[in-house]
Amino acid sequence: MSSVSKSPFPADFAWGVATAAYQIEGAVDEDGRGESIWDRFAATPGKVRSGDTGAVACDFYHRFDADIELMRNLGVDAFRFSIAWPRVQPDGTGRINGAGLDFYDRLVDALLENGITPFATLYHWDLPQRLEERGGWPSRDIVDAFAEYTEAVAERLGDRVGHWITHNEPWVVAWLGYGWGMHAPGRTSERDALAAAHHLLVGHGRAVEILRRRSPEAKVGITLNLYDVYPASDAPEDVLAARYADGLHNRWFLDAILRGEYPLDMIESFGDAVPAVAEGDMEAASVPVDFIGVNYYSRHVIGAGRDGGRPVLVRNPESEYTDMGWEIYPEGLFRVLTRLRDDYAIPPVYITENGSAFSDVRRHDGSVDDLERLAYLESHIDALGRAVEEGVPVKGYFVWSLLDNFEWAHGYSKRFGIVYVDYPTLERVPKASYSWYRSFIQRDRERAGTGMATGLTRSGTRSRTD
Ligand code: FCB
Repeated sequence: MSSVSKSPFPADFAWGVATAAYQIEGAVDEDGRGESIWDRFAATPGKVRSGDTGAVACDFYHRFDADIELMRNLGVDAFRFSIAWPRVQPDGTGRINGAGLDFYDRLVDALLENGITPFATLYHWDLPQRLEERGGWPSRDIVDAFAEYTEAVAERLGDRVGHWITHNEPWVVAWLGYGWGMHAPGRTSERDALAAAHHLLVGHGRAVEILRRRSPEAKVGITLNLYDVYPASDAPEDVLAARYADGLHNRWFLDAILRGEYPLDMIESFGDAVPAVAEGDMEAASVPVDFIGVNYYSRHVIGAGRDGGRPVLVRNPESEYTDMGWEIYPEGLFRVLTRLRDDYAIPPVYITENGSAFSDVRRHDGSVDDLERLAYLESHIDALGRAVEEGVPVKGYFVWSLLDNFEWAHGYSKRFGIVYVDYPTLERVPKASYSWYRSFIQRDRERAGTGMATGLTRSGTRSRTD
């Protein structure tokens, strides 16, 4: 994309930044918030690196005004955040905690006053601990609980939030949380993982219906973490392993949401671990959505596990990797998007997360010159532009993340922000990537011929992008 050519992005394309409640808010005991599975998991020795917890995090709960100022200065159109279920319902069901909802009420109003469109995620992994004790996502009762929570949130915010995301990355919730134990609540059962995934999808369908009723003009979607999957070689066992990995990560959710069925090859592979599907479940999972959110970070090169074990990620000695050990592969974003368009009948797409962790160091003058992150963002936005030119209906892009934050089991050791957070003082220091993104957005608007923000409503009443 040269600076003189016309932008591939439509004039109403939304540029944004993304976050999640537990990763930034802190204030875990304030205003009646209940315990979440992440509080419990982080308090369990050995689960989170260095014993880090979200107790303080970036203290966004108290500092969101200043952070909105950072966003305004950045010039973004939209802010993606999530709502903490345990703030709204400390016990997971029943009593609604008004003070918890007040916080999001204030946040949404402040965003709108500053001309920033709120994109609210209902579930970004912080389940009320009490619900986990009653069975968590693998238990079918959770579908009603999630519906009850959605009603409460939508009733309060549905008049002002114009974009809702029901779930963030159900694959991660199911497999890292219930299948492989790396995330809260730390269970290790394939059967639980599949049941969790099923209830997340059915719960998604119920939530969409509720949001349609309570927030009738809003756009509603779900966010998936999609990977570009390659076999490590042409050997039949690697090809099979890659097909399995694609089924596990991508097709299980895409087929359910966009076709109303689970992929047959995966049903066969999972055998009797596949959960019972009740009448109406697949219709709920595939209820029409207004957009699909795609989180893209890396590709997966997959080889057959030894002795028929789980497929393994194969490292490419020629590639560069981020501090997470994730391969930098911008072309994968292009391929994920064109594949979506080719294999499925898709609604519009938002890139709801894209970004990278590097071990940033502050220089003597206090600045953070994160050239690798800047290059990562530039190359991925370039790949995105090519997908848009190819006709993939992408309507927005969110950098993960505005701030360095609590990176789940890695604690504070991984920095994804375009703003550095000095944890001892909580000082915010915009990095070089922040300045780059700021000028990029400005330039793109000039090239798109709008010369101004976007087509998003800036009046502060309701925000819509289409
Ligand atoms: C995604 C999560 C997000 C963040 C990034 C790095 O899987 O949705 O919360 O942790 O990874």
